[in-house]
Amino acid sequence: MNQNELKKALSRLPLGDVRYFDSIGSTNNEALAWATSGAKDLSLVIADAQTAGRGRLDRKWFTPKGTALAFSLILRPTAEEKPYLTRIVGMAALAVADALRTRGLSTQIKWPNDVLLNGRKAAGILIESVWSGDELDCLVIGIGVNVLKGAVPATELLQFPATSLEESLGPAVEREKVLRDILAGIIALRPHLGTDSFIASWEKALAFRGEQVQIEEGNGSSSTGKLLGLEPDGSLRLSSEDGESITVRFGDVRLRPRA
Ligand code: ATP
Ligand code: BTN
Repeated sequence: MNQNELKKALSRLPLGDVRYFDSIGSTNNEALAWATSGAKDLSLVIADAQTAGRGRLDRKWFTPKGTALAFSLILRPTAEEKPYLTRIVGMAALAVADALRTRGLSTQIKWPNDVLLNGRKAAGILIESVWSGDELDCLVIGIGVNVLKGAVPATELLQFPATSLEESLGPAVEREKVLRDILAGIIALRPHLGTDSFIASWEKALAFRGEQVQIEEGNGSSSTGKLLGLEPDGSLRLSSEDGESITVRFGDVRLRPRA
Protein backbone atom coordinates (compact mmCIF):
# COMPACT_ATOMS: atom_id res chain seq x y z
CA MET A 1 0.00 0.00 0.00
CA ASN A 2 1.32 3.42 -0.92
CA GLN A 3 2.03 5.15 2.38
CA ASN A 4 2.04 8.65 0.89
CA GLU A 5 -1.42 8.07 -0.57
CA LEU A 6 -2.52 6.65 2.77
CA LYS A 7 -1.26 9.70 4.68
CA LYS A 8 -2.90 12.02 2.18
CA ALA A 9 -6.21 10.19 2.32
CA LEU A 10 -6.30 10.23 6.12
CA SER A 11 -4.94 13.74 6.61
CA ARG A 12 -8.30 15.49 7.10
CA LEU A 13 -9.78 12.92 9.47
CA PRO A 14 -9.71 13.51 13.24
CA LEU A 15 -7.97 10.19 13.98
CA GLY A 16 -5.82 9.25 16.97
CA ASP A 17 -2.48 7.68 16.01
CA VAL A 18 -1.97 5.42 12.98
CA ARG A 19 0.11 2.22 12.77
CA TYR A 20 0.73 0.79 9.29
CA PHE A 21 2.12 -2.72 8.60
CA ASP A 22 3.08 -4.29 5.26
CA SER A 23 2.10 -7.59 6.82
CA ILE A 24 0.72 -8.55 10.22
CA GLY A 25 -1.03 -11.51 11.88
CA SER A 26 -4.31 -9.71 12.60
CA THR A 27 -4.89 -5.95 12.82
CA ASN A 28 -7.47 -6.69 15.53
CA ASN A 29 -4.83 -8.39 17.70
CA GLU A 30 -2.50 -5.42 17.30
CA ALA A 31 -5.34 -2.99 18.09
CA LEU A 32 -6.45 -4.98 21.16
CA ALA A 33 -2.89 -4.91 22.55
CA TRP A 34 -2.53 -1.20 21.71
CA ALA A 35 -5.89 -0.38 23.30
CA THR A 36 -4.80 -2.18 26.47
CA SER A 37 -1.66 -0.08 26.62
CA GLY A 38 -3.52 3.23 26.26
CA ALA A 39 -4.14 3.98 22.57
CA LYS A 40 -6.11 7.18 21.98
CA ASP A 41 -9.70 7.20 20.76
CA LEU A 42 -9.91 6.68 16.96
CA SER A 43 -6.42 5.20 16.67
CA LEU A 44 -6.03 3.03 13.59
CA VAL A 45 -4.13 -0.13 12.71
CA ILE A 46 -3.94 -0.88 9.01
CA ALA A 47 -2.13 -3.64 7.13
CA ASP A 48 -1.53 -4.51 3.50
CA ALA A 49 -1.72 -8.23 4.29
CA GLN A 50 -2.81 -10.39 7.22
CA THR A 51 -1.42 -13.84 7.89
CA ALA A 52 -3.92 -14.71 10.64
CA GLY A 53 -6.94 -12.52 9.89
CA ARG A 54 -9.94 -13.57 11.97
CA GLY A 55 -13.68 -13.63 11.54
CA ARG A 56 -16.10 -14.40 14.33
CA LEU A 57 -15.34 -17.43 16.54
CA ASP A 58 -11.81 -17.58 15.18
CA ARG A 59 -12.95 -18.40 11.66
CA LYS A 60 -10.35 -17.34 9.11
CA TRP A 61 -10.49 -14.09 7.17
CA PHE A 62 -8.26 -14.04 4.09
CA THR A 63 -6.26 -10.90 3.30
CA PRO A 64 -3.71 -11.52 0.55
CA LYS A 65 -1.12 -8.79 -0.03
CA GLY A 66 -2.04 -5.77 -2.12
CA THR A 67 -5.68 -6.70 -2.70
CA ALA A 68 -7.80 -5.72 0.28
CA LEU A 69 -8.47 -3.30 3.06
CA ALA A 70 -7.79 -4.74 6.51
CA PHE A 71 -7.93 -2.33 9.40
CA SER A 72 -8.97 -1.94 13.00
CA LEU A 73 -10.24 1.26 14.57
CA ILE A 74 -10.02 1.73 18.33
CA LEU A 75 -13.00 3.40 19.92
CA ARG A 76 -13.14 4.65 23.50
CA PRO A 77 -16.90 4.90 24.00
CA THR A 78 -18.18 7.94 25.86
CA ALA A 79 -20.72 7.66 28.71
CA GLU A 80 -23.45 8.68 26.21
CA GLU A 81 -22.41 5.91 23.78
CA LYS A 82 -22.12 3.12 26.36
CA PRO A 83 -25.86 2.28 26.43
CA TYR A 84 -25.71 1.69 22.67
CA LEU A 85 -22.65 -0.55 22.23
CA THR A 86 -24.68 -3.30 20.52
CA ARG A 87 -25.31 -0.80 17.73
CA ILE A 88 -21.60 -0.35 16.91
CA VAL A 89 -21.56 -3.26 14.47
CA GLY A 90 -24.43 -1.58 12.62
CA MET A 91 -22.55 1.71 12.57
CA ALA A 92 -19.53 0.04 10.97
CA ALA A 93 -21.66 -1.91 8.49
CA LEU A 94 -23.58 1.23 7.49
CA ALA A 95 -20.34 3.17 6.99
CA VAL A 96 -18.99 0.42 4.70
CA ALA A 97 -22.31 0.12 2.82
CA ASP A 98 -22.49 3.92 2.36
CA ALA A 99 -18.88 4.15 1.12
CA LEU A 100 -19.66 1.54 -1.53
CA ARG A 101 -23.03 3.08 -2.38
CA THR A 102 -21.42 6.45 -3.14
CA ARG A 103 -19.43 4.57 -5.80
CA GLY A 104 -22.71 3.56 -7.42
CA LEU A 105 -22.76 0.05 -5.96
CA SER A 106 -25.80 -1.78 -4.70
CA THR A 107 -25.07 -2.80 -1.11
CA GLN A 108 -26.92 -4.52 1.68
CA ILE A 109 -26.06 -5.57 5.21
CA LYS A 110 -26.29 -9.26 6.00
CA TRP A 111 -27.04 -9.02 9.69
CA PRO A 112 -25.08 -8.80 11.81
CA ASN A 113 -21.61 -8.30 10.40
CA ASP A 114 -21.30 -8.63 6.65
CA VAL A 115 -21.74 -6.21 3.77
CA LEU A 116 -23.05 -7.66 0.53
CA LEU A 117 -22.44 -6.32 -2.93
CA ASN A 118 -24.86 -7.71 -5.51
CA GLY A 119 -25.85 -10.30 -2.92
CA ARG A 120 -22.28 -11.49 -2.32
CA LYS A 121 -20.05 -10.84 0.66
CA ALA A 122 -17.60 -8.00 -0.06
CA ALA A 123 -16.76 -6.99 3.51
CA GLY A 124 -16.84 -8.38 7.03
CA ILE A 125 -16.74 -6.76 10.45
CA LEU A 126 -15.36 -8.10 13.72
CA ILE A 127 -15.97 -6.09 16.90
CA GLU A 128 -13.95 -6.98 19.99
CA SER A 129 -13.69 -5.34 23.39
CA VAL A 130 -11.15 -4.47 26.08
CA TRP A 131 -12.38 -4.39 29.68
CA SER A 132 -11.02 -2.75 32.84
CA GLY A 133 -12.62 -4.99 35.47
CA ASP A 134 -16.38 -4.62 34.93
CA GLU A 135 -16.05 -1.45 32.86
CA LEU A 136 -15.73 -1.47 29.10
CA ASP A 137 -12.60 0.43 28.19
CA CYS A 138 -12.35 0.16 24.40
CA LEU A 139 -13.92 -1.40 21.38
CA VAL A 140 -11.92 -2.53 18.38
CA ILE A 141 -13.80 -2.31 15.10
CA GLY A 142 -12.08 -4.64 12.64
CA ILE A 143 -13.07 -4.30 9.00
CA GLY A 144 -11.98 -6.32 5.99
CA VAL A 145 -13.00 -5.28 2.46
CA ASN A 146 -12.30 -7.27 -0.70
CA VAL A 147 -11.12 -4.52 -3.02
CA LEU A 148 -9.43 -6.43 -5.83
CA LYS A 149 -10.42 -9.83 -7.21
CA GLY A 150 -7.32 -11.40 -5.66
CA ALA A 151 -8.81 -10.83 -2.19
CA VAL A 152 -11.68 -13.24 -2.78
CA PRO A 153 -10.96 -16.73 -1.42
CA ALA A 154 -11.49 -19.87 -3.52
CA THR A 155 -15.15 -20.95 -3.56
CA GLU A 156 -14.48 -24.16 -1.64
CA LEU A 157 -13.24 -22.12 1.34
CA LEU A 158 -16.47 -20.12 1.57
CA GLN A 159 -19.74 -20.76 3.35
CA PHE A 160 -21.36 -17.82 1.55
CA PRO A 161 -20.56 -16.43 -1.93
CA ALA A 162 -18.04 -13.58 -2.00
CA THR A 163 -17.07 -10.77 -4.36
CA SER A 164 -14.78 -7.75 -4.63
CA LEU A 165 -15.21 -4.11 -5.56
CA GLU A 166 -13.11 -4.76 -8.65
CA GLU A 167 -15.78 -7.09 -10.02
CA SER A 168 -18.18 -4.13 -10.18
CA LEU A 169 -15.85 -1.16 -10.61
CA GLY A 170 -12.84 -2.48 -12.49
CA PRO A 171 -9.26 -2.54 -11.21
CA ALA A 172 -8.83 1.22 -10.71
CA VAL A 173 -10.42 1.29 -7.23
CA GLU A 174 -8.28 3.25 -4.80
CA ARG A 175 -8.06 1.42 -1.50
CA GLU A 176 -6.91 4.51 0.41
CA LYS A 177 -9.98 6.48 -0.67
CA VAL A 178 -12.36 3.68 0.21
CA LEU A 179 -10.69 3.53 3.63
CA ARG A 180 -11.03 7.29 4.05
CA ASP A 181 -14.74 7.18 3.20
CA ILE A 182 -15.47 4.30 5.60
CA LEU A 183 -13.65 6.05 8.45
CA ALA A 184 -15.36 9.37 7.66
CA GLY A 185 -18.69 7.52 7.66
CA ILE A 186 -18.07 6.01 11.10
CA ILE A 187 -17.03 9.40 12.47
CA ALA A 188 -20.16 11.04 11.00
CA LEU A 189 -22.54 8.34 12.26
CA ARG A 190 -21.12 8.22 15.78
CA PRO A 191 -23.10 11.20 17.20
CA HIS A 192 -26.33 9.57 15.93
CA LEU A 193 -25.70 6.15 17.49
CA GLY A 194 -28.45 6.55 20.10
CA THR A 195 -31.13 7.94 17.78
CA ASP A 196 -34.19 6.21 16.32
CA SER A 197 -33.18 7.37 12.86
CA PHE A 198 -29.92 5.43 13.21
CA ILE A 199 -31.88 2.20 13.73
CA ALA A 200 -34.17 3.14 10.84
CA SER A 201 -31.20 3.59 8.46
CA TRP A 202 -29.63 0.32 9.62
CA GLU A 203 -32.93 -1.48 9.16
CA LYS A 204 -33.40 -0.02 5.69
CA ALA A 205 -30.00 -1.34 4.62
CA LEU A 206 -30.69 -4.95 5.72
CA ALA A 207 -30.58 -7.76 3.17
CA PHE A 208 -33.59 -10.13 2.94
CA ARG A 209 -36.09 -7.71 4.55
CA GLY A 210 -39.60 -9.09 4.17
CA GLU A 211 -38.16 -12.42 3.00
CA GLN A 212 -38.03 -15.86 4.58
CA VAL A 213 -34.64 -16.53 6.15
CA GLN A 214 -32.96 -19.25 8.09
CA ILE A 215 -31.03 -18.66 11.29
CA GLU A 216 -28.35 -21.27 11.92
CA GLU A 217 -27.01 -21.51 15.44
CA GLY A 218 -23.59 -22.75 16.50
CA ASN A 219 -25.15 -25.73 18.33
CA GLY A 220 -26.54 -27.02 15.01
CA SER A 221 -30.14 -25.92 15.55
CA SER A 222 -31.84 -23.65 13.08
CA SER A 223 -35.07 -21.70 12.80
CA THR A 224 -36.86 -19.97 9.96
CA GLY A 225 -39.00 -16.88 9.73
CA LYS A 226 -39.74 -13.72 7.84
CA LEU A 227 -37.15 -11.00 8.45
CA LEU A 228 -39.03 -7.97 9.75
CA GLY A 229 -36.39 -5.59 11.06
CA LEU A 230 -34.43 -4.66 14.16
CA GLU A 231 -35.08 -4.24 17.87
CA PRO A 232 -33.74 -1.01 19.43
CA ASP A 233 -30.62 -2.90 20.61
CA GLY A 234 -29.87 -4.13 17.07
CA SER A 235 -31.23 -7.67 17.60
CA LEU A 236 -33.00 -9.10 14.56
CA ARG A 237 -36.80 -9.31 14.49
CA LEU A 238 -38.46 -12.17 12.64
CA SER A 239 -41.94 -13.61 12.56
CA SER A 240 -42.43 -17.36 12.49
CA GLU A 241 -44.87 -19.13 10.17
CA ASP A 242 -47.57 -19.10 12.86
CA GLY A 243 -47.10 -15.38 13.36
CA GLU A 244 -45.09 -15.64 16.57
CA SER A 245 -42.41 -13.01 16.95
CA ILE A 246 -38.79 -14.18 17.22
CA THR A 247 -35.84 -12.10 18.41
CA VAL A 248 -32.37 -13.18 17.34
CA ARG A 249 -29.60 -11.77 19.50
CA PHE A 250 -25.96 -11.38 18.55
CA GLY A 251 -23.95 -14.52 19.10
CA ASP A 252 -23.02 -17.59 17.17
CA VAL A 253 -25.76 -17.18 14.58
CA ARG A 254 -25.58 -17.15 10.80
CA LEU A 255 -28.23 -15.77 8.52
CA ARG A 256 -29.14 -17.37 5.22
CA PRO A 257 -31.91 -16.85 2.68
CA ARG A 258 -34.32 -19.73 3.12
CA ALA A 259 -33.41 -22.62 0.85
P1 ATP B 1 -21.05 -16.42 6.71
O1 ATP B 1 -20.15 -15.71 5.73
O2 ATP B 1 -20.94 -17.90 6.63
O3 ATP B 1 -22.43 -15.90 6.81
P2 ATP B 1 -20.24 -15.37 9.21
O4 ATP B 1 -20.43 -13.95 8.86
O5 ATP B 1 -20.93 -15.91 10.39
O6 ATP B 1 -20.39 -16.24 8.00
P3 ATP B 1 -17.65 -15.02 9.95
O7 ATP B 1 -16.96 -15.81 10.95
O8 ATP B 1 -18.14 -13.69 10.34
O9 ATP B 1 -18.77 -15.80 9.34
O10 ATP B 1 -16.73 -14.87 8.65
C1 ATP B 1 -15.70 -15.75 8.38
C2 ATP B 1 -16.07 -16.51 7.15
O11 ATP B 1 -15.93 -15.64 6.02
C3 ATP B 1 -15.10 -17.64 6.88
O12 ATP B 1 -15.60 -18.82 7.44
C4 ATP B 1 -15.02 -17.71 5.35
O13 ATP B 1 -16.02 -18.60 4.88
C5 ATP B 1 -15.42 -16.32 4.90
N1 ATP B 1 -14.29 -15.51 4.40
C6 ATP B 1 -13.01 -15.51 4.76
N2 ATP B 1 -12.29 -14.58 4.11
C7 ATP B 1 -13.15 -13.96 3.30
C8 ATP B 1 -13.02 -12.91 2.36
N3 ATP B 1 -11.87 -12.28 2.14
N4 ATP B 1 -14.14 -12.55 1.69
C9 ATP B 1 -15.33 -13.16 1.89
N5 ATP B 1 -15.52 -14.15 2.76
C10 ATP B 1 -14.44 -14.56 3.46
C1 BTN C 1 -16.34 -11.68 9.28
O1 BTN C 1 -16.05 -12.77 9.70
O2 BTN C 1 -17.21 -11.46 8.45
C2 BTN C 1 -15.55 -10.58 9.86
C3 BTN C 1 -14.22 -10.48 9.24
C4 BTN C 1 -13.44 -9.34 9.83
C5 BTN C 1 -12.11 -9.21 9.16
C6 BTN C 1 -11.36 -8.01 9.63
S1 BTN C 1 -9.93 -7.69 8.62
C7 BTN C 1 -9.34 -6.53 9.78
C8 BTN C 1 -9.61 -7.12 11.15
N1 BTN C 1 -8.54 -8.01 11.55
C9 BTN C 1 -8.97 -9.28 11.70
O3 BTN C 1 -8.26 -10.22 12.04
N2 BTN C 1 -10.28 -9.35 11.41
C10 BTN C 1 -10.83 -8.06 11.05
